[in-house]
Amino acid sequence: MQSYRRERERAAQDPSGFWLEQAQRIEWVDRPTRGLDDSGAPLYRWFPDGTLNTCVNALDRHVAAGQGGRVALIHDSAVTGTVRRITYAELLDSVSRFAGVLAGQGVVRGDRVLIYMPMVPEAVIAMLACARLGAVHSVVFGGFAPGELAVRIDDARPKVMVASSCGIEGAKVVEYKPMVDAALERAEHAPDVCIILQRPQALASMGARDRDWHELLADAQPHAAVEVSALDPLYILYTSGTTGRPKGVVRDNGGHAVAMAWSFENVFGMTAEDVWWAASDVGWVVGHSYIVYAPLICGATSVLFEGKPVGTPDAGAFWRVVAEHSVAGLFTAPTAIRAIKREDPDGLLLADHDTSSLRSLFLAGERLDPDTYEWAGAKLGVPIIDNWWQTETGWPIAANPRGLEPLPIKAGSPSVPVPGFDVRVVDPTGEPVEAGEQGAIVIGLPLPPGCLPTLWGDDQRFVDSYLSAVPGCFSTGDGGFLDPDGYLYVMGRTDDVINVAGHRLSTGSMEAVVAAHPDVAECAVIGVRDDLKGQVPRAFVVLKAGSRIDPETLQEEVVEAVRDQVGPVAALKRVVVVPGLPKTRSGKILRRTMRGIADGRPEPAPSTIDDPAVLEAIAPLLQE
Ligand code: COA
Ligand code: AMP
Repeated sequence: MQSYRRERERAAQDPSGFWLEQAQRIEWVDRPTRGLDDSGAPLYRWFPDGTLNTCVNALDRHVAAGQGGRVALIHDSAVTGTVRRITYAELLDSVSRFAGVLAGQGVVRGDRVLIYMPMVPEAVIAMLACARLGAVHSVVFGGFAPGELAVRIDDARPKVMVASSCGIEGAKVVEYKPMVDAALERAEHAPDVCIILQRPQALASMGARDRDWHELLADAQPHAAVEVSALDPLYILYTSGTTGRPKGVVRDNGGHAVAMAWSFENVFGMTAEDVWWAASDVGWVVGHSYIVYAPLICGATSVLFEGKPVGTPDAGAFWRVVAEHSVAGLFTAPTAIRAIKREDPDGLLLADHDTSSLRSLFLAGERLDPDTYEWAGAKLGVPIIDNWWQTETGWPIAANPRGLEPLPIKAGSPSVPVPGFDVRVVDPTGEPVEAGEQGAIVIGLPLPPGCLPTLWGDDQRFVDSYLSAVPGCFSTGDGGFLDPDGYLYVMGRTDDVINVAGHRLSTGSMEAVVAAHPDVAECAVIGVRDDLKGQVPRAFVVLKAGSRIDPETLQEEVVEAVRDQVGPVAALKRVVVVPGLPKTRSGKILRRTMRGIADGRPEPAPSTIDDPAVLEAIAPLLQE
């Protein structure tokens, strides 16, 4: 563990010096002379006197270095049966011109642009065009419905929205434009214009506020990159918290660029020569960091895959992509591998493809279960590398640092804290626990570059949500333990956030929708175990006195409402009517106790339970 230990100690003893050294990986306009700015502690900032442009780092500098002919993006669209290769020079041209389009609509440094698009190159072009102007993008995942979109519009207050007419989900065309219109009807804030990318699979009807992507681009002039402060926000990415109100995670320009450059090489062991594929979605943090920014900042080739691991056309899709594009590193969620394993347990479709280019498979987004780990390792014959992180950090907190020094792999553990992250496991009083003992996972401040400096427009919420439980530490919301070798085991969330097919969702936002049903008196949505998706939400509802609704109608209406307001990605399918909900004497619903029973791992009910008979009455319903 020599190189790893050395780098970890250097980053811990002199964070400023360590990260200033790593900052040399980036092209600055004004090179920073200071690393960490702790003057606003517990809010920390990185590289306060540096200026740069992130788009220049992702595109211009590679073209200027003579690499314009290299392929930057491979758009492999299994759902349309097309493959499009875009070089760095071509991408720079499109991005500069789309930056011209946005500037023509009045977008300037600091303005927000909300992007609601499927996995098409135009999503990446729009993101980088914002970065070029110093505007702040906020990408919303296409699986979120108008209700969630509206909340994000009102929080980010975008000047412009960029959307696609549709996405393609397997054999199904999902129209995005009606969802944009419905969201704008619900939102209080109104962007000046919506730029719509018309896809032939479903042409959108255009309203007074709408402009056509292609028409605007045809007349556009390239726009130069705008110099921004390292501290300027690059993007806002909303993520689920325990309440229905999503948290606007802010990413700065300087620290982010440095973290992307460092982690792509040191954590993932990738270089500019490699074809890299993060099989996620641009709407999630994995997509931001490892489909778009890290591989492009490092000058590598990034695969943008539009399709599913199964069904487009079959469970061999991933292996076809690896073979066809000579992918060296693949990053996805365990659920994708479980889906493939379910369809092709013997790996027969895998055997049809030459996947010898693959050096490692990286998995994250949810706990990597031993079966999936073993199956993937046996079938692919490459190291299976778990890594643990979250939207808030933007890059891995714990991983097996393949580039720095490959360490022994232990099944069930994402491995060791990445240099820069002071990972601790603490008890409810905030005191560190012994090795092997479970507790809350926290990170000693300051967080390294690239992690969220704050929540959008709400420093106080940032402090209250993350920095207050354990003084001097950032609370991750996950629980787990460190073993005697310093390997971290992440066991799951300690709050009511759930993880459905690698997607982080708030039960709170689903509860708000369920509770709004006219027949529902009160409800609890909890995550229950699912073989494919890891967890799925299930709603338990108490009906209003006198309600005569039959359970099937109730379920249909509630499921439809959740799809409409939260989105299909929530995957709420079951609604169970119960006579009552177990609560503490102060009225708090005992969700954790309910979860334990539903998962077949019951824990004793807390002594604060109000009426144990209620729990007894619903226990059989929880287990159904
Ligand atoms: N736009 C519109 N709708 C979307 C969408 C998008 N971008 N993404 C998902 N949806 C819809 C799906 O069409 C589906 O709708 P349906 O209920 O009408 O069928 C619903 O949301 C659930 O989608 P999904 O979670 O993808 O489930 P699935 O059953 O279609 O597929 C898996 C299951 C496991 C194959 C799939 O979840 C998967 O590939 N997961 C990998 C996750 C991942 O990459 N996570 C990122 C972290 S690294
Ligand atoms: P997100 O912010 O959507 O990336 O979700 C982050 C959450 O997913 C974390 O807080 C964890 O609960 C979970 N998670 C991500 N990666 C892992 C992993 N490797 N092992 C266990 N849980 C993970």
